[in-house]
Amino acid sequence: IQKSFVMMKPDAVARRLMGKILSRFEEKGLQIIGVKLMQIDEELAKTHYGEHADKPFFDDLVKYITSSPSLAMVIKGEDAISTIRKMVGATNPLEADLGTIRGDYAMDTGRNIIHASDSPESAEREISLFFDEDEICEYSIVDNVWIYE
Ligand code: GTP
Ligand code: MG
Repeated sequence: IQKSFVMMKPDAVARRLMGKILSRFEEKGLQIIGVKLMQIDEELAKTHYGEHADKPFFDDLVKYITSSPSLAMVIKGEDAISTIRKMVGATNPLEADLGTIRGDYAMDTGRNIIHASDSPESAEREISLFFDEDEICEYSIVDNVWIYE
């Protein structure tokens, strides 16, 4: 069982897509164990996307992520990290398969509505960057016997 850090970016929140996107994860059988609507400041955005600090799009990325509130989440499930990356789709929404979140709801790499951790190491780093331990709620759900064999 893995935990992933997932974040609806400012465009997803502003476009009122939070409910639809959250439903996709719930319907898949994943479990939401942390949720926080937050205005990300410049320092947090730069730390979170530190691996891209040298890229030409970095300043625009930081501006985008800090422009309006985002919805930070911790989502749990079997193989959650790669499963959620598949559900999110390619970075460029025009290349993302239809049926993925970016493929269905976005048009531009610079407005691609959602972030998801890309490895166990980044998930651990990002979860602790955005959430205190007491903001994550572990709970059992009875339908798990119908989700997992
Ligand atoms: P995240 O889940 O947000 O990390 O996206 P990703 O893993 O699919 O892509 P990557 O980590 O390579 O890039 C991080 C984010 O930077 C992307 O999701 C975009 O929001 C932004 N980004 C990447 N490439 C470009 C680009 O060429 N132009 C612009 N404007 N933004 C970009
Ligand atoms: Mg990335």
